[in-house]
Amino acid sequence: MRIDIITVLPELLKSPFEASILKRAIEKGLVEVHLHNLRDFSLGNYNQVDDYQFGGGAGMVLMAEPIDKCISKLKEERVYDEVIYMSPDGATLNQGMANGLSLKKNIIILCGHYKGVDQRVRDLFITKEISIGDYVLSGGELAAAVLSDAVIRLLPGVLNDETSALTDTFQDNLLAPPVYTRPSNYKGHKVPDVLLSGNFPKIEKWREEQALKRTETLRPDLLE
Ligand code: ADE
Repeated sequence: MRIDIITVLPELLKSPFEASILKRAIEKGLVEVHLHNLRDFSLGNYNQVDDYQFGGGAGMVLMAEPIDKCISKLKEERVYDEVIYMSPDGATLNQGMANGLSLKKNIIILCGHYKGVDQRVRDLFITKEISIGDYVLSGGELAAAVLSDAVIRLLPGVLNDETSALTDTFQDNLLAPPVYTRPSNYKGHKVPDVLLSGNFPKIEKWREEQALKRTETLRPDLLE
């Protein structure tokens, strides 16, 4: 898979891809992540990428032309399955959307900034708008990092244990069951006996019951 991220703040997006699972996925060649600085496609001598909004009002708007130039250059090089705009207006990201995107070959993620992007960019280039929740961030960069993480960890070979993404919270619309590690008795709080029993069918059944119980208590909306 290849992810191209267009941003005015590439430095904000470097570190998520330089540690742990995402770093390893890139090193193993399971995903390519390319950051594109919108200012490299700017207009005039002032590296301009934003301007005042027509009709007045506070806040700058990212201009259509630099974004058009960047997306068009990428599209000359390969075919993209999706051009995603990170925006609080979009559909709220969930596990099903991450699963779907993990099957794509090439995606572009455009990060908004200031008041957002010129509407014509959305009309002409964007195939999907995604939000990471009903709150406003100062830009789409952190949202793009969240989306990329949710997708990349699902790619085959990224997680050591091939099955572990399948047992995540939200797969099957259930929260994950509780997990424990050593010691088996922590200050008098004991790990449930079943987990120490070595009886794997019984452990599996317990986990399913706990997942359902936890979902009923914490997120009953998932069961509706
Ligand atoms: N940009 C600003 N706020 C956002 C949000 N909640 N989700 C995605 N992109 C955003």
